[in-house]
Amino acid sequence: MKDKKITDSIYYVGADDKTIDLFESQYVVPNGVSYNSYVILDEKIAVMDTVDPRAGEEWLAQIEEVLAGRTPGYLVISHLEPDHAGNIQKIAEKYPDMQLVGNPKTFAMLPQFFDMDVSGRCVTVKEGDTLSLGSHTLTFVMAPMVHWPEVMVAYESSEKVLFSADGFGKFGALDAKEAWVDEARRYYINIVGKYGAQVQALLKKAAALDIAVICPLHGPVLRENLGYYLEKYNTWSSYEPEEKGIVIAYASIHGNTAKAARKLASMLEERTDLPVKVYDLARADMPTVVAEAFRYDRLVLAAASYDGGVFPCMEDFLHHLKAKTYRNRKAGLLENGTWAPSAARTMRGILEEMKGITLCEKVVSIRSTLKESDEAELAALAEELLSE
Ligand code: FEO
Repeated sequence: MKDKKITDSIYYVGADDKTIDLFESQYVVPNGVSYNSYVILDEKIAVMDTVDPRAGEEWLAQIEEVLAGRTPGYLVISHLEPDHAGNIQKIAEKYPDMQLVGNPKTFAMLPQFFDMDVSGRCVTVKEGDTLSLGSHTLTFVMAPMVHWPEVMVAYESSEKVLFSADGFGKFGALDAKEAWVDEARRYYINIVGKYGAQVQALLKKAAALDIAVICPLHGPVLRENLGYYLEKYNTWSSYEPEEKGIVIAYASIHGNTAKAARKLASMLEERTDLPVKVYDLARADMPTVVAEAFRYDRLVLAAASYDGGVFPCMEDFLHHLKAKTYRNRKAGLLENGTWAPSAARTMRGILEEMKGITLCEKVVSIRSTLKESDEAELAALAEELLSE
Protein backbone atom coordinates (compact mmCIF):
# COMPACT_ATOMS: atom_id res chain seq x y z
CA MET A 1 0.00 0.00 0.00
CA LYS A 2 3.02 2.26 0.42
CA ASP A 3 3.12 3.32 -3.22
CA LYS A 4 -0.54 4.31 -3.02
CA LYS A 5 0.06 6.93 -0.36
CA ILE A 6 -0.30 10.51 -1.46
CA THR A 7 -0.01 11.69 2.15
CA ASP A 8 -0.29 9.81 5.45
CA SER A 9 -4.07 9.76 5.11
CA ILE A 10 -4.79 10.20 1.39
CA TYR A 11 -4.46 7.17 -0.85
CA TYR A 12 -4.49 6.67 -4.60
CA VAL A 13 -6.96 4.00 -5.68
CA GLY A 14 -7.15 4.62 -9.43
CA ALA A 15 -6.35 2.40 -12.36
CA ASP A 16 -4.26 2.45 -15.51
CA ASP A 17 -5.98 1.46 -18.73
CA LYS A 18 -3.53 0.34 -21.39
CA THR A 19 -5.94 -1.60 -23.55
CA ILE A 20 -8.53 1.01 -24.50
CA ASP A 21 -8.46 1.61 -28.26
CA LEU A 22 -9.76 5.20 -28.21
CA PHE A 23 -10.35 7.31 -25.11
CA GLU A 24 -13.80 8.91 -25.38
CA SER A 25 -14.02 7.00 -28.69
CA GLN A 26 -11.86 9.63 -30.36
CA TYR A 27 -8.40 9.98 -28.82
CA VAL A 28 -5.60 7.51 -29.40
CA VAL A 29 -3.72 6.91 -26.17
CA PRO A 30 -0.51 5.11 -27.13
CA ASN A 31 0.61 5.06 -23.51
CA GLY A 32 -2.84 4.37 -22.08
CA VAL A 33 -4.76 6.57 -19.68
CA SER A 34 -5.29 6.56 -15.94
CA TYR A 35 -8.61 6.93 -14.15
CA ASN A 36 -7.71 8.44 -10.81
CA SER A 37 -9.64 8.06 -7.60
CA TYR A 38 -8.56 8.81 -4.05
CA VAL A 39 -9.52 7.85 -0.52
CA ILE A 40 -9.19 10.20 2.45
CA LEU A 41 -8.95 8.27 5.72
CA ASP A 42 -10.22 10.13 8.76
CA GLU A 43 -12.95 9.72 11.37
CA LYS A 44 -15.21 9.75 8.34
CA ILE A 45 -13.81 8.34 5.10
CA ALA A 46 -14.30 10.05 1.75
CA VAL A 47 -13.86 8.36 -1.60
CA MET A 48 -13.05 10.97 -4.21
CA ASP A 49 -14.76 9.91 -7.46
CA THR A 50 -14.98 6.46 -8.99
CA VAL A 51 -13.34 5.19 -12.18
CA ASP A 52 -14.33 4.06 -15.66
CA PRO A 53 -16.53 0.94 -15.76
CA ARG A 54 -13.61 -0.81 -17.49
CA ALA A 55 -11.66 -0.67 -14.22
CA GLY A 56 -14.43 -1.11 -11.67
CA GLU A 57 -13.37 -4.41 -10.12
CA GLU A 58 -9.73 -3.37 -9.76
CA TRP A 59 -10.82 -0.09 -8.18
CA LEU A 60 -13.18 -1.66 -5.67
CA ALA A 61 -10.50 -4.15 -4.65
CA GLN A 62 -8.09 -1.30 -3.93
CA ILE A 63 -10.71 0.55 -1.93
CA GLU A 64 -11.33 -2.52 0.17
CA GLU A 65 -7.61 -2.83 0.82
CA VAL A 66 -7.26 0.81 1.87
CA LEU A 67 -10.42 0.72 3.99
CA ALA A 68 -9.22 -2.39 5.85
CA GLY A 69 -12.69 -3.29 6.97
CA ARG A 70 -14.00 0.23 7.49
CA THR A 71 -16.87 1.79 5.56
CA PRO A 72 -16.72 5.01 3.56
CA GLY A 73 -18.88 7.84 4.84
CA TYR A 74 -18.95 9.76 1.59
CA LEU A 75 -18.46 9.43 -2.14
CA VAL A 76 -17.57 12.86 -3.51
CA ILE A 77 -18.71 13.18 -7.13
CA SER A 78 -16.72 15.92 -8.85
CA HIS A 79 -17.85 15.02 -12.33
CA LEU A 80 -20.43 12.71 -13.87
CA GLU A 81 -18.62 11.77 -17.06
CA PRO A 82 -18.52 7.97 -17.07
CA ASP A 83 -14.72 7.69 -17.00
CA HIS A 84 -15.02 8.85 -13.39
CA ALA A 85 -18.62 8.23 -12.45
CA GLY A 86 -19.11 4.84 -14.08
CA ASN A 87 -19.03 2.94 -10.79
CA ILE A 88 -21.27 5.15 -8.64
CA GLN A 89 -24.08 2.63 -8.56
CA LYS A 90 -21.71 -0.23 -7.86
CA ILE A 91 -20.10 1.43 -4.82
CA ALA A 92 -23.41 2.87 -3.60
CA GLU A 93 -24.88 -0.63 -3.55
CA LYS A 94 -21.80 -2.10 -1.89
CA TYR A 95 -21.84 0.50 0.91
CA PRO A 96 -25.50 1.33 1.55
CA ASP A 97 -24.70 3.71 4.45
CA MET A 98 -22.35 5.81 2.32
CA GLN A 99 -23.65 9.25 1.33
CA LEU A 100 -23.17 10.86 -2.07
CA VAL A 101 -21.74 14.38 -2.18
CA GLY A 102 -22.51 16.57 -5.17
CA ASN A 103 -24.10 19.83 -6.19
CA PRO A 104 -27.65 20.39 -7.45
CA LYS A 105 -26.58 19.81 -11.06
CA THR A 106 -24.88 16.54 -10.08
CA PHE A 107 -28.04 15.18 -8.55
CA ALA A 108 -30.21 16.46 -11.40
CA MET A 109 -28.10 14.53 -13.92
CA LEU A 110 -27.39 11.43 -11.84
CA PRO A 111 -30.67 9.64 -12.67
CA GLN A 112 -29.86 10.00 -16.37
CA PHE A 113 -26.99 7.58 -15.83
CA PHE A 114 -28.20 5.29 -13.07
CA ASP A 115 -31.34 3.52 -12.07
CA MET A 116 -31.02 3.64 -8.28
CA ASP A 117 -32.77 5.16 -5.34
CA VAL A 118 -30.53 7.76 -3.70
CA SER A 119 -33.21 9.38 -1.56
CA GLY A 120 -31.86 10.25 1.87
CA ARG A 121 -28.29 9.65 0.71
CA CYS A 122 -27.47 12.94 -1.06
CA VAL A 123 -25.37 15.66 0.54
CA THR A 124 -25.91 18.69 -1.68
CA VAL A 125 -23.15 21.29 -1.63
CA LYS A 126 -22.70 24.68 -3.23
CA GLU A 127 -19.82 27.10 -3.74
CA GLY A 128 -17.72 27.42 -0.59
CA ASP A 129 -19.52 24.73 1.41
CA THR A 130 -17.35 22.57 3.61
CA LEU A 131 -17.47 18.95 4.66
CA SER A 132 -15.60 17.89 7.77
CA LEU A 133 -14.19 14.38 7.88
CA GLY A 134 -12.52 14.84 11.25
CA SER A 135 -9.10 16.43 10.93
CA HIS A 136 -9.63 16.91 7.21
CA THR A 137 -12.03 19.45 5.76
CA LEU A 138 -13.10 19.61 2.15
CA THR A 139 -14.17 22.93 0.66
CA PHE A 140 -16.10 22.73 -2.59
CA VAL A 141 -15.42 25.08 -5.47
CA MET A 142 -17.78 25.00 -8.42
CA ALA A 143 -16.17 24.74 -11.84
CA PRO A 144 -19.14 24.83 -14.22
CA MET A 145 -18.30 23.87 -17.81
CA VAL A 146 -14.80 22.74 -17.01
CA HIS A 147 -15.89 20.89 -19.04
CA TRP A 148 -19.32 19.63 -17.92
CA PRO A 149 -21.90 21.78 -16.11
CA GLU A 150 -21.80 19.94 -12.77
CA VAL A 151 -18.04 19.90 -12.33
CA MET A 152 -16.71 20.93 -8.96
CA VAL A 153 -13.28 20.69 -7.40
CA ALA A 154 -12.53 20.10 -3.74
CA TYR A 155 -9.78 21.64 -1.62
CA GLU A 156 -8.62 19.82 1.49
CA SER A 157 -7.21 22.52 3.72
CA SER A 158 -5.30 20.59 6.40
CA GLU A 159 -2.93 19.02 3.85
CA LYS A 160 -3.44 21.69 1.14
CA VAL A 161 -4.56 19.20 -1.48
CA LEU A 162 -6.62 20.26 -4.49
CA PHE A 163 -8.76 17.53 -6.03
CA SER A 164 -8.92 19.18 -9.43
CA ALA A 165 -11.33 16.94 -11.39
CA ASP A 166 -10.19 16.75 -15.05
CA GLY A 167 -8.06 19.87 -14.57
CA PHE A 168 -4.31 19.27 -14.86
CA GLY A 169 -4.94 15.79 -16.20
CA LYS A 170 -3.17 14.15 -19.10
CA PHE A 171 -3.34 11.14 -21.34
CA GLY A 172 -0.93 8.33 -20.50
CA ALA A 173 -0.90 5.65 -17.82
CA LEU A 174 0.85 6.56 -14.59
CA ASP A 175 3.93 4.55 -15.52
CA ALA A 176 4.25 6.19 -18.95
CA LYS A 177 7.76 7.50 -19.39
CA GLU A 178 6.87 10.85 -20.85
CA ALA A 179 6.88 14.50 -19.87
CA TRP A 180 3.63 15.91 -18.56
CA VAL A 181 3.27 18.76 -20.98
CA ASP A 182 2.65 17.27 -24.43
CA GLU A 183 -0.05 14.82 -23.39
CA ALA A 184 -1.52 17.35 -20.97
CA ARG A 185 -1.74 19.87 -23.78
CA ARG A 186 -3.34 17.36 -26.18
CA TYR A 187 -5.80 16.44 -23.42
CA TYR A 188 -6.60 20.04 -22.43
CA ILE A 189 -6.91 21.60 -25.88
CA ASN A 190 -9.09 18.84 -27.31
CA ILE A 191 -11.27 18.08 -24.30
CA VAL A 192 -11.48 21.35 -22.38
CA GLY A 193 -10.19 23.86 -24.95
CA LYS A 194 -13.56 25.37 -25.84
CA TYR A 195 -14.07 26.47 -22.22
CA GLY A 196 -11.17 28.86 -21.71
CA ALA A 197 -13.28 31.52 -19.98
CA GLN A 198 -14.56 28.98 -17.45
CA VAL A 199 -11.04 27.70 -16.80
CA GLN A 200 -9.86 31.28 -16.28
CA ALA A 201 -12.63 31.72 -13.69
CA LEU A 202 -11.52 28.56 -11.89
CA LEU A 203 -7.86 29.61 -11.96
CA LYS A 204 -8.81 32.89 -10.30
CA LYS A 205 -10.50 30.97 -7.49
CA ALA A 206 -7.55 28.57 -7.23
CA ALA A 207 -5.15 31.52 -6.88
CA ALA A 208 -6.72 32.24 -3.49
CA LEU A 209 -5.85 28.74 -2.22
CA ASP A 210 -2.57 27.59 -0.72
CA ILE A 211 -2.03 24.44 -2.77
CA ALA A 212 0.73 21.92 -2.03
CA VAL A 213 -0.57 18.94 -4.02
CA ILE A 214 -2.84 18.65 -7.05
CA CYS A 215 -4.74 15.37 -7.43
CA PRO A 216 -6.28 15.27 -10.93
CA LEU A 217 -8.58 12.61 -12.34
CA HIS A 218 -6.04 11.58 -15.00
CA GLY A 219 -2.27 11.43 -14.92
CA PRO A 220 0.21 11.95 -12.15
CA VAL A 221 -0.34 13.63 -8.81
CA LEU A 222 1.49 16.96 -8.99
CA ARG A 223 3.55 18.03 -6.00
CA GLU A 224 6.43 20.18 -7.19
CA ASN A 225 6.80 23.36 -9.14
CA LEU A 226 3.02 23.82 -9.27
CA GLY A 227 3.47 27.28 -10.76
CA TYR A 228 4.59 25.62 -13.98
CA TYR A 229 1.33 23.73 -14.38
CA LEU A 230 -0.79 26.70 -13.37
CA GLU A 231 1.03 28.89 -15.88
CA LYS A 232 0.45 26.37 -18.68
CA TYR A 233 -3.24 26.31 -17.83
CA ASN A 234 -3.33 30.09 -17.78
CA THR A 235 -1.73 30.24 -21.24
CA TRP A 236 -3.93 27.56 -22.75
CA SER A 237 -7.15 28.93 -21.32
CA SER A 238 -6.38 32.47 -22.43
CA TYR A 239 -5.78 31.23 -25.99
CA GLU A 240 -2.30 32.70 -26.11
CA PRO A 241 0.43 30.75 -27.89
CA GLU A 242 2.98 29.00 -25.75
CA GLU A 243 5.86 29.48 -28.17
CA LYS A 244 6.93 31.18 -31.34
CA GLY A 245 6.99 28.75 -34.23
CA ILE A 246 5.23 27.67 -37.37
CA VAL A 247 2.94 24.69 -37.88
CA ILE A 248 2.37 23.72 -41.50
CA ALA A 249 -0.69 21.48 -41.81
CA TYR A 250 -1.24 20.09 -45.26
CA ALA A 251 -4.00 18.18 -47.00
CA SER A 252 -2.60 16.61 -50.14
CA ILE A 253 -4.28 14.12 -52.48
CA HIS A 254 -1.44 12.90 -54.71
CA GLY A 255 1.58 14.38 -52.94
CA ASN A 256 1.98 17.63 -54.89
CA THR A 257 0.55 19.89 -52.18
CA ALA A 258 2.73 17.99 -49.71
CA LYS A 259 5.81 18.86 -51.79
CA ALA A 260 4.85 22.52 -51.77
CA ALA A 261 4.30 22.43 -48.01
CA ARG A 262 7.69 20.83 -47.45
CA LYS A 263 9.34 23.35 -49.75
CA LEU A 264 7.83 26.17 -47.72
CA ALA A 265 9.09 24.46 -44.56
CA SER A 266 12.65 24.30 -45.91
CA MET A 267 12.46 27.96 -46.95
CA LEU A 268 11.34 28.88 -43.45
CA GLU A 269 14.09 26.80 -41.89
CA GLU A 270 16.65 28.64 -44.03
CA ARG A 271 15.40 31.91 -42.60
CA THR A 272 14.73 31.18 -38.94
CA ASP A 273 15.74 29.12 -35.94
CA LEU A 274 12.12 28.92 -34.81
CA PRO A 275 10.57 25.45 -34.84
CA VAL A 276 8.84 24.53 -38.09
CA LYS A 277 6.52 21.53 -37.72
CA VAL A 278 4.94 19.86 -40.76
CA TYR A 279 1.87 17.62 -40.44
CA ASP A 280 0.04 15.52 -43.02
CA LEU A 281 -3.60 15.93 -42.05
CA ALA A 282 -4.63 12.81 -43.94
CA ARG A 283 -2.42 10.67 -41.72
CA ALA A 284 -1.40 12.51 -38.56
CA ASP A 285 -3.27 12.20 -35.31
CA MET A 286 -5.76 15.07 -35.66
CA PRO A 287 -5.89 15.97 -31.94
CA THR A 288 -2.08 16.22 -31.95
CA VAL A 289 -2.12 18.68 -34.83
CA VAL A 290 -4.91 20.68 -33.16
CA ALA A 291 -2.82 20.89 -29.98
CA GLU A 292 0.26 21.87 -31.97
CA ALA A 293 -1.69 24.64 -33.72
CA PHE A 294 -2.57 26.02 -30.28
CA ARG A 295 1.01 25.61 -29.06
CA TYR A 296 2.63 27.87 -31.69
CA ASP A 297 1.85 31.39 -32.83
CA ARG A 298 1.79 30.79 -36.58
CA LEU A 299 -0.08 28.35 -38.78
CA VAL A 300 0.06 27.57 -42.48
CA LEU A 301 -2.80 25.73 -44.11
CA ALA A 302 -1.81 24.03 -47.36
CA ALA A 303 -4.54 22.16 -49.18
CA ALA A 304 -5.78 20.78 -52.43
CA SER A 305 -9.04 22.03 -53.86
CA TYR A 306 -11.80 19.45 -53.85
CA ASP A 307 -15.45 19.43 -54.92
CA GLY A 308 -15.46 23.20 -55.20
CA GLY A 309 -14.12 23.49 -51.65
CA VAL A 310 -11.15 22.06 -49.81
CA PHE A 311 -9.86 18.51 -49.36
CA PRO A 312 -11.95 17.04 -46.51
CA CYS A 313 -9.21 16.41 -43.93
CA MET A 314 -8.39 20.13 -44.02
CA GLU A 315 -12.04 21.02 -43.58
CA ASP A 316 -12.16 18.60 -40.66
CA PHE A 317 -9.06 20.17 -39.12
CA LEU A 318 -10.53 23.66 -39.43
CA HIS A 319 -13.77 22.42 -37.91
CA HIS A 320 -11.81 21.15 -34.90
CA LEU A 321 -9.93 24.43 -34.53
CA LYS A 322 -13.13 26.42 -34.71
CA ALA A 323 -14.87 24.17 -32.18
CA LYS A 324 -12.01 24.74 -29.74
CA THR A 325 -12.28 28.50 -30.41
CA TYR A 326 -8.82 28.75 -31.94
CA ARG A 327 -7.83 32.42 -32.12
CA ASN A 328 -5.09 35.05 -31.80
CA ARG A 329 -2.71 33.53 -34.35
CA LYS A 330 -1.09 34.49 -37.65
CA ALA A 331 -2.12 32.24 -40.56
CA GLY A 332 -0.91 31.72 -44.10
CA LEU A 333 -2.67 29.96 -46.96
CA LEU A 334 -1.34 27.75 -49.74
CA GLU A 335 -3.74 26.14 -52.17
CA ASN A 336 -3.47 23.75 -55.05
CA GLY A 337 -5.97 23.48 -57.86
CA THR A 338 -5.82 21.88 -61.28
CA TRP A 339 -8.74 23.61 -62.97
CA ALA A 340 -10.62 25.86 -60.53
CA PRO A 341 -8.70 26.46 -57.26
CA SER A 342 -11.17 26.78 -54.39
CA ALA A 343 -9.18 25.70 -51.33
CA ALA A 344 -7.88 29.11 -50.26
CA ARG A 345 -11.29 30.73 -50.50
CA THR A 346 -12.85 27.94 -48.43
CA MET A 347 -10.12 27.96 -45.79
CA ARG A 348 -10.23 31.76 -45.54
CA GLY A 349 -13.98 31.63 -45.08
CA ILE A 350 -13.66 29.32 -42.09
CA LEU A 351 -10.75 31.25 -40.58
CA GLU A 352 -12.77 34.45 -40.82
CA GLU A 353 -15.28 32.91 -38.44
CA MET A 354 -12.56 32.76 -35.77
CA LYS A 355 -11.43 35.68 -33.61
CA GLY A 356 -8.08 37.38 -33.87
CA ILE A 357 -6.71 35.52 -36.89
CA THR A 358 -4.26 37.66 -38.84
CA LEU A 359 -4.11 36.33 -42.38
CA CYS A 360 -0.99 36.82 -44.44
CA GLU A 361 -1.70 38.90 -47.51
CA LYS A 362 0.31 36.56 -49.69
CA VAL A 363 -1.77 33.56 -50.67
CA VAL A 364 0.16 30.99 -52.67
CA SER A 365 -1.85 29.29 -55.38
CA ILE A 366 -0.19 26.53 -57.37
CA ARG A 367 -1.54 24.65 -60.32
CA SER A 368 -1.23 20.86 -59.97
CA THR A 369 2.51 20.77 -59.21
CA LEU A 370 5.02 23.12 -57.67
CA LYS A 371 7.10 24.88 -60.36
CA GLU A 372 10.28 26.86 -60.00
CA SER A 373 8.23 29.88 -60.92
CA ASP A 374 6.13 29.36 -57.76
CA GLU A 375 9.11 29.63 -55.45
CA ALA A 376 9.13 33.41 -55.33
CA GLU A 377 5.54 33.22 -54.07
CA LEU A 378 6.51 30.71 -51.41
CA ALA A 379 9.44 32.88 -50.38
CA ALA A 380 7.15 35.88 -50.07
CA LEU A 381 4.81 33.88 -47.82
CA ALA A 382 7.77 32.69 -45.73
CA GLU A 383 8.98 36.28 -45.28
CA GLU A 384 5.53 37.47 -44.28
CA LEU A 385 5.12 34.64 -41.78
CA LEU A 386 8.40 35.58 -40.15
CA SER A 387 7.80 39.32 -40.07
CA GLU A 388 6.74 40.52 -36.62
FE1 FEO B 1 -12.05 12.53 -17.45
FE2 FEO B 1 -14.47 14.75 -18.22
O1 FEO B 1 -13.79 13.09 -17.78
